[in-house]
Amino acid sequence: MKYTYPVTRTTNPKPHPQDETNLGFGQYFTDHMFLMDYDEGQGWHDGRIVPYAPLSIDPASCVLHYAQMMFEGMKAYRRPDGRLQLFRPDMNAKRMARTADRMAMPVLPQDILISAVEELIDVDKDWMPKAPDTSMYIRPFIFGNEVSFSAMAAKHYTFCIIIAPTGAYYASNTGKLGTSRIYVQDEYIRAAQGGTGFAKVGGNYGGAMRATEVAKQFNCKDVLWLDARDHKYVEEIGTSNAFFRIGDEVITAPLETGTILPGVTRDSVINLLKRWGVKVSERRLSIDELLAAAKDGSLKEIFASGTAAVISAIGCLNVKGEDYPVADGEAGEIAQKLYNELYGMQTGKVEDYMGWTYPLDIVVD
Ligand SMILES: Cc1ncc(COP(=O)(O)O)c(C=O)c1O
Repeated sequence: MKYTYPVTRTTNPKPHPQDETNLGFGQYFTDHMFLMDYDEGQGWHDGRIVPYAPLSIDPASCVLHYAQMMFEGMKAYRRPDGRLQLFRPDMNAKRMARTADRMAMPVLPQDILISAVEELIDVDKDWMPKAPDTSMYIRPFIFGNEVSFSAMAAKHYTFCIIIAPTGAYYASNTGKLGTSRIYVQDEYIRAAQGGTGFAKVGGNYGGAMRATEVAKQFNCKDVLWLDARDHKYVEEIGTSNAFFRIGDEVITAPLETGTILPGVTRDSVINLLKRWGVKVSERRLSIDELLAAAKDGSLKEIFASGTAAVISAIGCLNVKGEDYPVADGEAGEIAQKLYNELYGMQTGKVEDYMGWTYPLDIVVD
């Protein structure tokens, strides 16, 4: 079911970014945003599109103290015929529902999410960037918005969507993949079993920032996380899912531990690899097995998957200052093929034989 919402248009439109080759990630936001309220007993109500503006929050609002919030990340892409499309938005809605359950927050129905996204993009469609490798990043988020110091689930929530024209997440991901260096983090952890690792909540990211700072000291872009209990098994890379190709097997961490964010791109990668007849295993992989493979030459590729960069290749691991190059340090063939196929489908340049794209009733010049 499709919903429509009242629109209050801005009387003060912002200038659009001049240089579309340098949009960054969340540097520019469009003229409007979507807002909706939830109240216990009433459910979700009063969805509306309003001019983009700061939110007014009571300083005692529970989200500012106890972080009862969640967010999502997805993109709208421009097809060669000018029609805009989303990529597997039902997966984002389902992940939101699982996150809501973990955070004792109300579930937002999928039809509301997708209708709100479509209508907001339609209102701000003149912000859709044109330059190659650009897209519209969509950030839905929900937070407990109740004035109370009791550390209990809120009874009132605000749902907001903001959208941002963005460029390639890594400048090097414009066609041929570049590679980055990744620091193996064996002190700080991202997520523990029983915690919130499988959910998309702000606390997971705030708690990770110290580790990213450490990685930078070793000239690394991001962190390879190890499991919280044994500090032994590889989990994710920064804010992306991680894949390791050892010999002819591609390995990624299993979801059963509850510590891995079930990425939309991760699922797409696994399904494409299976279709291509590549052996793909969702299993635990120890850092010892990985480093031994790096040393004996059987480690062929490491890559990360996520909405922001699609696929990014890793050229070198660093363990406490010691470098472990991944094969010849260049992006591997599977990473490159996945990038070409997925990004091609997302932008309508490769036929969508998986039924993943979600064309919108919006066409731009
Ligand atoms: C921790 C984490 N892992 C993995 C991902 C990749 O998920 P997706 O492919 O849905 O963007 C993200 C990004 O959303 C993330 O924040």
